[in-house]
Amino acid sequence: MPFQSNQFMARYLTGIQSSGIPHLGNILGAIEPAIRFSRNTENDSLFFIADYHSLTTIKSAEQRIHNVRSVAATWIAFGFDYNKNILFRQSDVKEVLELTWVLSCFTPFPMLANAHSFKDKSDKLSDVNAGLFTYPVLMAADILLYDSEFVPVGKDQIQHIEIARDIASTFNNTYQKEVLTLPQPAVQAEAMTVPGTDGAKMSKSYGNYIDIYLEEKALRKVIMSIKTDSTPLEEPKNTEGDTTFKIYSLVASAEETSKLAELYTGGNFGFGHAKQMLFEKIMEKFGDARERYAELMSKPEELDAILKIGADKARKIAVDVLARVKPLVGF
Ligand code: ADP
Ligand code: TRP
Repeated sequence: MPFQSNQFMARYLTGIQSSGIPHLGNILGAIEPAIRFSRNTENDSLFFIADYHSLTTIKSAEQRIHNVRSVAATWIAFGFDYNKNILFRQSDVKEVLELTWVLSCFTPFPMLANAHSFKDKSDKLSDVNAGLFTYPVLMAADILLYDSEFVPVGKDQIQHIEIARDIASTFNNTYQKEVLTLPQPAVQAEAMTVPGTDGAKMSKSYGNYIDIYLEEKALRKVIMSIKTDSTPLEEPKNTEGDTTFKIYSLVASAEETSKLAELYTGGNFGFGHAKQMLFEKIMEKFGDARERYAELMSKPEELDAILKIGADKARKIAVDVLARVKPLVGF
């Protein structure tokens, strides 16, 4: 079924793991698009911080608590209206674990064994735990527990939504009842992949990310470290395949981007200049969000209180859905 962004009264749900501080790739590829969906007054959005999922890779309590606040502060700093919608921490709604167990008994083992994110992670990580394997079942529970219809995600997460749909329809077929709502991914048509400083996909796990919240000097240093080719200053430069240019095009307007393209092809314009322009653009574009983020992070009790209110709202939905599921299985 094709994704329709003009759907009336649709429920959107998405989660971000608390496995780090959101970087430019997460912000442009996941957070901003999801917030755009939530701005439609007809939509009802539940955005959460997947702290149970982050336990698959991060074991430090302090780090997790800090990351939960950092992700929450990012949602708010980028304009998510947590009064109209729901912003919560996954682990505050324990019902998700109960549903996870039920769903895991409706999940064929080979479906998890074939999930590409498990294959990727088990190839890369030294700690290949069972949580990594059952990760998609917990994610299905996240989605199905709230009758979610649309799940804004990056392309890499589509398979997980398909798994959630499969599990939901197996459950519904077993009991011959439309108990669980079948979700669909909401992927932006122009879904972008933001490159990191080395030109590969920006990711926490590759250490190539741009943390837009860094103090000015440190942020400039990261931007100056973007890999370039060795075309001499006076010669014209290729925009194609150039990481600085690519990132600039994702944060600047079309007009600003074509001006930079002219500078590249004109010669006598070094990569250092381009990086300085990118740095200034990032400071300008994210200046307000940086301030709001710093303000929110300086008051952790307020952030925790916002998440608590969100959890209370989320739990009301979760309890109702679970009350439809449990009698069917005889619990
Ligand atoms: P990371 O690769 O840094 O660990 P995650 O896997 O936690 O990021 O991704 C969180 C969300 O951000 C996902 O929806 C993902 O699609 C999106 N995302 C991550 N990296 C990028 C990127 N480089 N470009 C666009 N979107 C991204
Ligand atoms: N797996 C997602 C990611 O790594 C995070 C996530 C957990 C999620 N539960 C979710 C996303 C439910 C959407 C819906 O990005």
